[in-house]
Amino acid sequence: MQSVSSAIRAALLTGDPRAKCFAARDVARRWRKGELAFTFDETMPEEPAWPDRPELLAPNKMPKRGKFGSERGRIALWHSLAHIEFVAIDLALDMAGRFGGEMGEEFVSDFLYVAADEAMHFALLARKLESMGSHYGALPAHGGLWEAAHDTRHDVAARLAVVPMVLEARGLDVTPATLERVRTAGDEHGARILARILDDEIRHVGFGTKHFLKVVADCDEEPESAWKSLVRKYFRGPVKPPFNDSARLAAGLSRGFYEDIAV
Ligand SMILES: [Fe+2]
Ligand SMILES: [Fe+2]
Repeated sequence: MQSVSSAIRAALLTGDPRAKCFAARDVARRWRKGELAFTFDETMPEEPAWPDRPELLAPNKMPKRGKFGSERGRIALWHSLAHIEFVAIDLALDMAGRFGGEMGEEFVSDFLYVAADEAMHFALLARKLESMGSHYGALPAHGGLWEAAHDTRHDVAARLAVVPMVLEARGLDVTPATLERVRTAGDEHGARILARILDDEIRHVGFGTKHFLKVVADCDEEPESAWKSLVRKYFRGPVKPPFNDSARLAAGLSRGFYEDIAV
């Protein structure tokens, strides 16, 4: 039987977006059906494979998005969201493939579930762009989204603290406002996509929090203060309000974690 780590590695090393989506969902399906062995005989790549386009730029080199009301501004918004979801596929695959051996089968199940969700989110957004006459890769994209994964590649607690519990939780904070803007502009289809993503992301943050609590259960420090030290050490940006307290709480992230880390 093929090992789950080699199937995950192959998905990470698939560069074409459509093929990567298929590979991620296929790994998740085969794992669920018991067709992959809980064996970690392959290491994960330093960096996943990505397509030639979009061109990846430093955040300060990104062109201005333009007004949301304009066609160009709308395409830029959906393109940036599609890119976040594309990188999220690899973040979830790498989580399962890199740390699954030490963390156990439930961890692998949870993060392969996330990888399949992210592939679905990406596919919805790529289709949305196509319906607007554009496509993923048509614009440059944020080149720094893998940094958090790279910086935390040695430490599952740090990875969980930063990726699901900071970055994905940030998605919970900002998505409702984007959804409202999209709905106000009359794009009900776009609003439905964002509502679905928001729902799924609550579960992703919840998986992150659940496994983080397991990892830190054995140490003397309180989970909240362990989380804060890891975030201070490994996260380069600010953790800042406004926070979506109800969505965060639904994901197990109480105010005790983040209220006094905000700057
Ligand atoms: Fe997502
Ligand atoms: Fe997610």
